[in-house]
Amino acid sequence: MNAQLDLRENLKFFKIDKMNDLTVLKSKIKSNSEDFKSNHKETIQIIDDYNERLQSVIDRKSDSYVIKHKSKGKLEARERISALIDKKTEFYEFSTLAANDLYDGKFHSAGIVTGIGIIQGIETVIIANDPTVKGGTYVKETIKKHLRAQEIAYENLLPCVYIVESGGIFLPEQANVFADRDHFGKIFYNQSRLSAAGIPQIAMVMGSCTAGGAYIPAMSDQSIIVENQGTIFLAGPPLVKAAIGETVTAEDLGGAYVHTHLSGVADHMAKSEEEAILLCRSIFENLPKPKKTRTAQEKFEEPLYPAKELYGIIHQQNSRWIDIYEIIARIVDGSKFQEFKPDYGKTLVTGFSKIMGQIVGIVANNGILFSESALKGTHFIEMCSVRKIPLIFLHNITGFMVGKDSEHKGIAKDGAKMVHAVANTNVPKITIIFGKSHGAGNYAMAGRAYNPNLLFTWPNAKISVMGGRQAAEVLSTVKNGNQENHDDLKNQIMEKYEQESSAYFGTSRIWDDGIIDPVDTRKMIGLGLSIAANKEIPDYKPGIYRM
Ligand code: COA
Repeated sequence: MNAQLDLRENLKFFKIDKMNDLTVLKSKIKSNSEDFKSNHKETIQIIDDYNERLQSVIDRKSDSYVIKHKSKGKLEARERISALIDKKTEFYEFSTLAANDLYDGKFHSAGIVTGIGIIQGIETVIIANDPTVKGGTYVKETIKKHLRAQEIAYENLLPCVYIVESGGIFLPEQANVFADRDHFGKIFYNQSRLSAAGIPQIAMVMGSCTAGGAYIPAMSDQSIIVENQGTIFLAGPPLVKAAIGETVTAEDLGGAYVHTHLSGVADHMAKSEEEAILLCRSIFENLPKPKKTRTAQEKFEEPLYPAKELYGIIHQQNSRWIDIYEIIARIVDGSKFQEFKPDYGKTLVTGFSKIMGQIVGIVANNGILFSESALKGTHFIEMCSVRKIPLIFLHNITGFMVGKDSEHKGIAKDGAKMVHAVANTNVPKITIIFGKSHGAGNYAMAGRAYNPNLLFTWPNAKISVMGGRQAAEVLSTVKNGNQENHDDLKNQIMEKYEQESSAYFGTSRIWDDGIIDPVDTRKMIGLGLSIAANKEIPDYKPGIYRM
């Protein structure tokens, strides 16, 4: 063999082996160590508490409203959804714990179930009123959740199915839900815009739909109504009687026969909920399938390490950071991670991986953000934006470095560059808040205001402008008073921050798309990447960076 060729062959093999060694993350975790065991014990308690909270809103068999509803032979909102989606597929529910700590805990899931299900092979946004929660009426969080689901449909070109049974606005809350920009009217504005964008809008009327509830099927492209069960009217019989003195039954006023034979407000009459669901599925047989603009590898490797080990890796100690490499190793295909600038700005870890066969750029915190880490992050985000590679933000950040040294080095302008890049990138962004989220770090790491396509939090997450202890110091310093008042004030502030920074407080107000069990992180990112592939990524156009 030619000696030169031989040399090149050796070189090639050397490089490939070396590359493989570099890219496969090796876990340093010892599952029998005291540290792992104590983290695991603490996290299991957090997960048990999370599961209990979920169960209490999902499984409400003994709730009198559910008993009354089922006594009429009707399905619950989540049962309707499971009957609608393809067999052996999963419903990816959003914001299950919305409104969980508001309205005396009476608006379970904010009275509406939203998420993504697959119907005839098509990823679809499903929005179902829960008639067992105050007649399926809308408070502020119900509207926010409904609008967010429509936004996800718009951004990812997903058809919408509305399973409607709603008394419209929750009347005592009218001042918070009726007239402002993102109030009730926005639902119908969105339906019109989605329809115009070629995104199918299908409604199934499963019960009484009054006032605003009536507009949802009326604004849909196609609608189905169940005989002797579904009604659609702007005002119900009592109001008609009061307004114009007319006596009429609900069925005669706006039942299935009226709307499919006389008014044309609905298109198909079903004999039962089950038949309505079959009709809806048959409509999907003739919907165009969205074309995927990026194809994932069909066969991909699972991570080398079990996701359940995440329970022993995450911890609640403020004194040290959660080792991000251990988390990445349990999320990405084959635990392979090609790190970018591994020796520079090490508190921010950046690099390429695949998740469920799709290439992604990962931006992950491993400490406070310094100027170098922000510059590295900006460089990496620009690179992904130009190459059109989706970005995954693994978010655990207490903020940017403070102090004279950092300020003089220009931390504000370097942080601003990263915020610019995150705001202007056109690639899909998925954010997972797995620890802390404070200060401008929240912005630089694609917090909610930076429009990530999906944002999930882990139940241990803490989100607030700064930590409780720091806020207590700042506020008690700026307020004058004696030492006793000073200590009282500090304690009050810490207590308030403790409560308001909890993941449950945030999800209640829909600052995220839901709290997830850490073991489901890879699956939820996979979902986000799959739906985002329905849309072309536009060319990157940066703003002006302060140099
Ligand atoms: N605003 C505030 N509360 C409402 C409401 C509304 N629009 N619609 C229903 N509720 C409340 C009821 O007061 C009741 O609360 P309670 O259990 O604390 O007493 C609860 O929701 C369930 O209502 P109920 O009437 O018992 O249930 P139902 O299943 O028999 O009927 C409706 C549900 C929605 C068909 C019926 O309540 C109704 O017609 N509501 C009025 C709808 C309306 O006129 N909306 C106009 C809004 S713009």
